[in-house]
Amino acid sequence: MTLFCFCNCSPSSLHPQMRDIVAKMTFLDRILFHIMHSADKKRLWPKLPVFLGLAYLAIRRHLHQRYNLLNVGDIKGQTYDTSKFSYRTADGRYNDPADDIVGSSETFFGRNMPQSTSNYALLDPHPTLVAGKLLTRTTFKDYGKQFNMIASTWIQFMIHDWIDHMEDTQQVEIEVSDEETATGCPWNKSFKFYRTKEISTGSYPIETGTLNTRTAWWDGSTIYGNNEHGLRRVRTCRDGKLKISGNGLLEHDEHWIPVAGDVKNSWAGLTLLQSLFVQEHNAVCDMLKENYPDFDDEKLYRHARLVTSAVMAKIHTIDWTVELLKTNTLLAGMRANWYGLLGKKFKDLFGHIGGSTLSGFVGNKQPENHGVPYSLTEEFVSVYRMHSLLPETLILRDIESATNTEYQTPPILEEVPMPEMIGKQGQRRLIKIGKEQMMVSLGHQACGALTLWNYPSWMRNLVPQDTNGEDRPDPVDLAALEIYRDRERGVPRYNEFRRSMLMIPINKWEDLTDDEEAIEALGKVYGLDVEKLDLLVGLHAEKKIEGFAISETAFFIFLIMASRRLEADRFFTTNFNNETYTKKGLEWVNKTESLKEVINRHFPGMAKKWMRSSSAFSVWDSEPTPGSCIPLYLRPGDE
Ligand code: HEM
Repeated sequence: MTLFCFCNCSPSSLHPQMRDIVAKMTFLDRILFHIMHSADKKRLWPKLPVFLGLAYLAIRRHLHQRYNLLNVGDIKGQTYDTSKFSYRTADGRYNDPADDIVGSSETFFGRNMPQSTSNYALLDPHPTLVAGKLLTRTTFKDYGKQFNMIASTWIQFMIHDWIDHMEDTQQVEIEVSDEETATGCPWNKSFKFYRTKEISTGSYPIETGTLNTRTAWWDGSTIYGNNEHGLRRVRTCRDGKLKISGNGLLEHDEHWIPVAGDVKNSWAGLTLLQSLFVQEHNAVCDMLKENYPDFDDEKLYRHARLVTSAVMAKIHTIDWTVELLKTNTLLAGMRANWYGLLGKKFKDLFGHIGGSTLSGFVGNKQPENHGVPYSLTEEFVSVYRMHSLLPETLILRDIESATNTEYQTPPILEEVPMPEMIGKQGQRRLIKIGKEQMMVSLGHQACGALTLWNYPSWMRNLVPQDTNGEDRPDPVDLAALEIYRDRERGVPRYNEFRRSMLMIPINKWEDLTDDEEAIEALGKVYGLDVEKLDLLVGLHAEKKIEGFAISETAFFIFLIMASRRLEADRFFTTNFNNETYTKKGLEWVNKTESLKEVINRHFPGMAKKWMRSSSAFSVWDSEPTPGSCIPLYLRPGDE
């Protein structure tokens, strides 16, 4: 009877694309799909008590792991003796025990779904028109106290660890649409950029793919680089340490390029976080040297990199994401990814017992790739297009005027236009500002919201930097370019994307949003054709779940990929042990729970003086998150 109720959506009520996916499912998975689909029809899962919400998410993740992981390209590497590589290599090789090159730099992006099957032309509708009519910021909108500029910078810090598409040498020039030119709005009549490099995969059904120039593993490559050359640039070759200048910020070379693992499209905020984690790496080196005096430079570096990368992954999992998706269910879910349902106290006392559900992915006996070699995916890149998090100006705070009392909000000193904080100009500015003032300022400023008409206007005339950190000669309209990129890379448009993610598609604009102005504007750009809606626009227009800073559609990609980054990695599973990390190194990871602690380690007293908030990622003068006497799993849903 129960089964019948859950299966009450007949196959014919499903879109043909969804029907095709469901037809491939096993009998059990079909039952699970129908349970999930029934909940989706009523938009039920965010309202469920935490333990039921977690059950829904477990079902969804299981189905995505089965049907939304597509390998791109042949597996070309070989097996090797893992005991000879008990450290993270410069280019990310030697992590997957079955294939040495999996996840290393310059390997293929995977996919979460087949390439788009729609026949819309690359310029339909014109990307500059979409950007002008639906994305460009009219007035700045933020998330209130939920998410600050450290949070937006943090995710760029992660992006520069994980993903970047290799470009072709061939340039494309896009003329601004007539309609946009007529408004007198665009700064340039056209803009130029490099095509994404498309490579034959030599396999079927995905015949061409694109390459990730960064290592796809969570290995801190934003501070360590993506190859031997990058790593050599940042290492001091003494006591395992990385280069840092006396003022606690990154060193610069003779061209004013910061000495960092990654310098492409950087800005002062990103440099600040890179500096903080170089300091963290160096502090780990000091601690290791004290405890293991016979370790040489290489050993100290290798262990410190493992520890620092794990600290970043942990902060992202149980601190940043919890603030991004501020609901009880996601608090429980993210902590379960690291500690398991039994929780931290149990894991600290008894170790990793009973597999990933009870004790989390971290410390699992074996890495798990669900039958598909690990990579990050095209769709993952697309849902992380979050430039709307950036404001128009950086609000600098006056930390000198502070008295000695606890938790103050420093007065505003100056508003600096964001373009002045980019590239070499931004590096000079950062040195003048100093790391402490910059951190306190970012902490007190709310970041932008991911919603329509909130894309930074200055990014529509942006001078990008190349992989060497040098300015490129041609400015780009980044908003329009992002629309173009998703189309160029065959990422399905919004509705096809949702169907492939086993989500209910929209039939009309009112299914996407209640905002009448948005409905009218969408109609003007796309007519009545909801299939044409670009993914980026859909993600920004979609009505959000209460507490979520991102759309549900983007979240379901996170659900699968966030777990995968941990469970597919040998250094978070088989090798997350004393032997590989050292006893003291593992203790360092286990004891560090938040960015607030790392900030306090390197800026002693900063949290007490400036941070009222519980997390370093919410606006620092906000009230701490209130506790609850109800056990987490029994708490009610959030909507
Ligand atoms: C001042 C800060 C930033 C600047 C100057 C910047 C600039 C750029 C530029 C020029 C590109 C390349 C566009 C292309 O050729 O396709 C890019 C790509 C991208 N950016 Fe940013 N960005 C910034 C911050 C952020 C933030 C906060 C995020 C948040 C997640 C982000 C996420 C991405 C992603 C996902 C890509 C696509 C990477 C790829 O194609 O592989 N960026 N950014």
